[in-house]
Parts: sequence; C-alpha cells; structure tokens
Amino acid sequence: MPEIVITEFMDENAVDRLKQAFDCTYDPTLVDRPEELADVVADARALIVRNRTQVRGALLNAGAKLECVGRLGVGLDNIDVAACKARDIEVYPVTGANDLSVAEYVITCTTSLLRGAYLGTESVIAGDWPRQSMMGRELAGKTLGLIGFGAIAREVAGRALGLGMDVIAYDPHLDATDPAWQQARNVSLDEIAELSDVISLHVPLNESTRHLVDTGFLTAMKDDAIVINAARGGVVDDTALARALLENIIGGAALDVFEVEPLTAGAGAKFAGAKNFIATPHIAGVTVESNVRVSHLIADKVLAKLGASA
Ligand SMILES: NC(=O)c1ccc[n+]([C@@H]2O[C@H](COP(=O)([O-])OP(=O)(O)OC[C@H]3O[C@@H](n4cnc5c(N)ncnc54)[C@H](O)[C@@H]3O)[C@@H](O)[C@H]2O)c1
Repeated sequence: MPEIVITEFMDENAVDRLKQAFDCTYDPTLVDRPEELADVVADARALIVRNRTQVRGALLNAGAKLECVGRLGVGLDNIDVAACKARDIEVYPVTGANDLSVAEYVITCTTSLLRGAYLGTESVIAGDWPRQSMMGRELAGKTLGLIGFGAIAREVAGRALGLGMDVIAYDPHLDATDPAWQQARNVSLDEIAELSDVISLHVPLNESTRHLVDTGFLTAMKDDAIVINAARGGVVDDTALARALLENIIGGAALDVFEVEPLTAGAGAKFAGAKNFIATPHIAGVTVESNVRVSHLIADKVLAKLGASA
C-alpha cells in the first residue's frame, strides 16, 4: 500500500522525486472515485490534493496514518483544517507560488474584455472587414478597482500601474498606514462600484464576502465596466451577474470560479448569449510555470515531513 497518495494532477518530475523516496500512487483521476480513494489511502502517510478532493469526514477517517496533507494551491476550503489539527496532521498550502499566474490572468482578461480583439477572427477570415464595430478600449487612463488588497491584488496593482491604469482598492482589514497603499487609493466599496472601469475580486469566501457582488452592486457599476472574479465562487452572485450581462447593465465579465464547481451544463445555461463574457474552469492560478513551482514546493514539504532527503 502506498505511503504517498496524489489524487489530482501534479508536475511529473516532482512526482518522480516522491516516487524515488517512497511508495507512491499518482492517479489524477482518483478524486472522482472517492470509495477507491478511501481504500488506497489506508496506509498513506501523505495525501496530496488540489481543490477538488474533499479532505474531511470519510476520507480523513480512512487515512488513519496520515501525517500531512499537501495542497497544490492556496485556498483550504476543501480541507477540514480543524480536524487535521486535532489529529496532528500538518496541512501545507503553497502560499504565494501562483500569485503571479493569477495576476497575469486578471491582466489578460482586462485587455481581452476592453479591447475585444479576440472577437474578430471569424468575421475577418469570412471576408468581412469589421473595423468600426471592432473599435476597442485602451487600458491606459482607466480605473482598476480591487476588492481585497492582499498578496494577489498587489501583484495585479503593480502590473496595472505599469500599463498606465489608476488603481483604487477596498480592504477594510488592511491598516490605512500600510505601505501597500502606495500602490492604490484606499476607497469604500461604494466608490469601487461607482468609479471603476474594471473591477477585480481578491477576497476569501466568508460570511462578509458572500454575494459581495450582487444585483445592487452590479446596478451601481458604470454601464460599460467589467468585473473579473478569480477569487472564489460565491463572492459574486452568478445568477445576478448573468442577468446583468444579458440585460447589458454592465460591459462584460470574466469568471474563473463559480458558486458550484465544476459548473454543470445546466448551471452554465444562464450565461448563454452573454456578450463580452469569458468563462474558465478555475485555472487562473494554473500555468505550466506555476504547476512546476507548486508541485516542487509540495514535494519538498512532504519529503521533509516524511524524513527523506529531497
Ligand atoms: N482562481 C485561482 O486559481 C486562484 C488562485 C489563487 C488564489 N485564489 C483566491 O484569490 C483570493 C485572494 O488570494 P490572496 O492570496 O491574495 O489572499 P490574501 O489573504 O493575501 O488577501 C485577501 C485580502 O482580502 C481582504 N479581505 C477579507 N475580507 C474582506 C472583505 N469583506 N472586503 C474586502 N477585503 C477583504 C483581506 O484583508 C486580505 O487583504 C483567495 O480567495 C484565494 O483563494 C484563486
């Protein structure tokens, strides 16, 4: 029986390092077979997951010998951290290792949605020449409103400033004297809605942030402003957002995260026909480069914990 079980995708070189030191099962489809996973984990000392494996209840009970859980990402919503702590199981997130990927995702969505250049391909190759209808917008001089001004938001702010955007942010938990405010003007949530051309969310999901972007907020936004959620599903009211897009109350949106993930075809249907809308499957933090960084960081931590030389 394996000492290390990996249930979701991980960089192969990092997996090989683990395999050289310990008996290791790597099966990125195990997450979809919870009963089999519960059997495989019986002798495991380390469990490595992304955000889909629910590390709680039955799985934690089945893993009676677990010493650590490696999370190939940041959020710990899928892990019962309190239960792990009660059993002295260490939980390792990879704080910071994919911040840059998320920040670049936000900038990519901003340029895509303001400029709209990607929308031209079909009509141009069909022989249309839609110059006037494809007139896009510049980033320079636009106002970026950040909700939450932690690690990722600051990476976004630095890049947006470099592109000539004005940056404002709302974060009531960040002291007004914090040096981070040199990168952004400290404003209220109402001012974010009222002043921003682009709004990007960078808060955790909790009772204070659930449906922070709801019908009232969307209505208060400029009618050509765009909203990007690469934080957590549920911070935006997806149904209200779909309605706002279809009724042209806002200018566009990008969603990397959804209230229920994976999004089903039924739940996705409310977005059908939405213009200037980008939907991605929770990959803002997942790039070739961040996958390597994140995977090796977790391999280092697990090897150190289980007592092997890396
Ligand atoms: N889509 C992805 O692939 C992906 C990848 C990495 C992180 N994330 C998510 O991005 C989000 C931000 O991550 P981070 O590393 O920057 O976190 P962080 O902890 O560094 O920053 C979060 C900030 O939100 C602020 N905040 C908390 N409640 C708030 C509220 N009610 N209103 C305004 N601000 C509030 C906090 O004060 C903090 O400064 C998290 O939800 C994380 O799970 C998503």
